[in-house]
Amino acid sequence: MESKGKATLTYGDGKSIEFPVFGGSVGPDVIDIRTLYGKTGMFTYDPGFLSTASCQSKITYIDGDKGELLYRGYPIEQLAANCDFLETCHLLLYGELPNKAQNADFVDRVTHHTMVSEQMQFFLRGFRRDAHPMAVLTGLVGAMSAFYHDSLDINNPQDRDISALRLIAKMPTLVAMSYKYSLGQPYIYPRNDLSYTANFMRMMFATPCEEYKPNEVLVRALDRIFILHADHEQNASTSTVRLCGSSGTNPFAAIAAGVACLWGPAHGGANEACLNMLQDIQAQGGVAKLGEFVAKVKDPNSGVRLMGFGHRVYKNYDPRAKLMRETCYEVLNALGLENDPLFKLSMALEKVALEDDYFVKRKLYPNVDYYSGIVQKALGIPVSMFTGIFSLARTVGWIAQWQEMISDPEYKIGRPRQLFNGSTTRQVKPIDKR
Ligand code: ACO
Repeated sequence: MESKGKATLTYGDGKSIEFPVFGGSVGPDVIDIRTLYGKTGMFTYDPGFLSTASCQSKITYIDGDKGELLYRGYPIEQLAANCDFLETCHLLLYGELPNKAQNADFVDRVTHHTMVSEQMQFFLRGFRRDAHPMAVLTGLVGAMSAFYHDSLDINNPQDRDISALRLIAKMPTLVAMSYKYSLGQPYIYPRNDLSYTANFMRMMFATPCEEYKPNEVLVRALDRIFILHADHEQNASTSTVRLCGSSGTNPFAAIAAGVACLWGPAHGGANEACLNMLQDIQAQGGVAKLGEFVAKVKDPNSGVRLMGFGHRVYKNYDPRAKLMRETCYEVLNALGLENDPLFKLSMALEKVALEDDYFVKRKLYPNVDYYSGIVQKALGIPVSMFTGIFSLARTVGWIAQWQEMISDPEYKIGRPRQLFNGSTTRQVKPIDKR
């Protein structure tokens, strides 16, 4: 990398030090402060990584002010309109959209990894039936490292590729198994003559007594949800995967860490929290109660947030939320649910918030999770499975980012430092003198 300039830091009694500045292909430049500690004995302090780039990446670019999202340079709107999820996976993993032959080969390779070891069923049985699917998934994904030993050499590109394909292929099977387990229904095995998304819907909704015929509009809607959630640069769960993977652990363990991180309500858990919020408002009187609800959100002491609103990077409408709102219309129309009260409520709440000074000043707009819950609910997916669906879709982003990290010659174990403000050395007293 060639430096495009220098940044000077003045500190102490007029001392100064220069750092190289690097530019990416687009987006903010970075000041390379890797030598700061060695030269000054000081660390930088940036909890929450508000101003810290943790890596170089070629995968996903977000312009938060413009509300733009690109996977490998392609706008998300074009991918959502012209590609399916597996083409998007190929793009994220290998850097290019596949041509017909490459696509057929990729689909074939993914499809022939969809089955999971039969032992997984016994592992699942250890969970309570009412366990949250994300608790189950964290366990199942981590457990994959105990089943697929034959390709765990992270320094072997072929092994890494097989692990990536296994993760993308088996996630739908595992997510559907966690759902069937919660219902007490038999698992439905994958069917390789169906598309990736139709197969997933069948594993979720068929039973041994009744076949499930995937509806094309609904399959396309879920496929689009997968595309929109496939990657989002260095978000919390992706950074977790990178940090976990930086120790050299196997990819299944690293992705399990990503699943655990995604579960939180400030991240992937927001779609579940958002739908619960809409249902609560509806139960308390619906549109008539919006004023009261928004007043609570604005009260700094209430601890209530408008779920599905706000984003660390987007300070404009999240482009995924726009596409998700479109998909919401399509799905509700296809199902004859145009007058769905939750959709009406969410549109009304969005309007109130977008016109309110509190949200305008803070640049709070709907994010991808605002409408995704309504779409998923209409597809028949229960609220507790929403984040599991998100983790299925994000797996490709996590594994592509992990691959990029492992192949980066600059890759090192991630090891942040701290500003220590606890006790300095003290002496242990015997227990009766404390
Ligand atoms: N409702 C009400 N106020 C909000 C919201 C919200 N959803 N989001 C941010 N704010 C306010 C904060 O109170 C703060 O106000 P203040 O300046 O008066 O203190 C200001 O906006 C900045 O908020 P921060 O929490 O500092 O913003 P941050 O970038 O750290 O957080 C986050 C981003 C976590 C997404 C936040 O907006 C949030 O909690 N949103 C709701 C949860 C959600 O929808 N998460 C999904 C994110 S997208 C994804 O993960 C797929």
